Amino acid sequence: ANNQPALREVFKKDFAIGTALNNRQVAERDTAAARLVPQQFDAATPENMMKAALMHPEWNRYYFDEADKLVAYAQKHNIKVNAHTLIWHSQLPAFMRHMNSADSVRQFMRDHITTVAGRYDGKVYSWDVVNEALNEDGTMRKSVFQQKLGDDFVVEAFKLAQQAAPHTRLYYNDYNIEQPAKRAGAIALIKKIQAAGVRIDGVGIQGHWSVEHLPLDQIEKSIQEFGALGIEVMFTELDLSVLPSPRGIVGADVNQSATYNDKINPYREGLPDSMQNKLADSYDALFRLFLQYKNKVTRVTFWGVDDGQSWLNDFPVRGRTNYPLLFDRKLQPKPAFYRVIDTK
Ligand code: XIL
Repeated sequence: ANNQPALREVFKKDFAIGTALNNRQVAERDTAAARLVPQQFDAATPENMMKAALMHPEWNRYYFDEADKLVAYAQKHNIKVNAHTLIWHSQLPAFMRHMNSADSVRQFMRDHITTVAGRYDGKVYSWDVVNEALNEDGTMRKSVFQQKLGDDFVVEAFKLAQQAAPHTRLYYNDYNIEQPAKRAGAIALIKKIQAAGVRIDGVGIQGHWSVEHLPLDQIEKSIQEFGALGIEVMFTELDLSVLPSPRGIVGADVNQSATYNDKINPYREGLPDSMQNKLADSYDALFRLFLQYKNKVTRVTFWGVDDGQSWLNDFPVRGRTNYPLLFDRKLQPKPAFYRVIDTK
């Protein structure tokens, strides 16, 4: 409806409100979605469009069409683009799988960052320069970058990004970095970048949580500790799964499509009120916390507009029916949406 409150207006003085977008949404063919997105959100992260596998399919070939469309779309609607992501072990181009010399990995990193971050400097607001470089215990993940270049690849990536994109804000992004050990690793990593005299403007806590496990205390500590580093703190991929973690379910075959498995996919006919309320309570608590720290938190981005778009329907098991976002599959606001609005 036209009198529906708008997240981007309600939180305008507090922090940006973002969403992940795919190329279908950017094409604006679905009129309901085309109206909803710019009404509700003033920030956008490409869900897949700017990952290396898509943008850099071969050594000397880049593909910019979809990213360019996103940039034009965002400009038209006054939406800030957080570009995602330059250096990540996942969704890498196929040629990177056969790369076994340090020199070629270094050259990939240099070419990729220089070309991609350079092209969009002044056109995007920010980049997730490095994504998911840490293990759960806070040590460095053994990615192709870490294995060939050593731990310093992170500092090197930020240095290259700073040179290529002087007008773009540069972030480190990861999941579970609100948890103590991994958070300590992230803080050490950020301090190392800063100590090298290299620019890092912020840290993105992904925020893939669930209604069963919402670590509010750790989230609060993380805002304080990351904020103390003098950088922006953001929640960059927020969604709250309402489904049980399939890992702990006895008799669940996580390798099979879960569509018809009641244990793994209990709500395929719809979300019961009890769960709908639990989701609303969880979002309410989170946004109260974000507002309490609005001087440190600069952006809250949902990982998708509506439940139908969510990657959590297919992760960590395929074919489930999840309900982690504020808008339902018909793009209608859920009770959680109104509770978020009411935190103001
Ligand atoms: C996910 C997308 O949502 C999916 O469409 C894709 O198949 C896999 O990647 N952490 C990240 C995001 O940083 O880029 C991931 O996005 C979700 C986990």
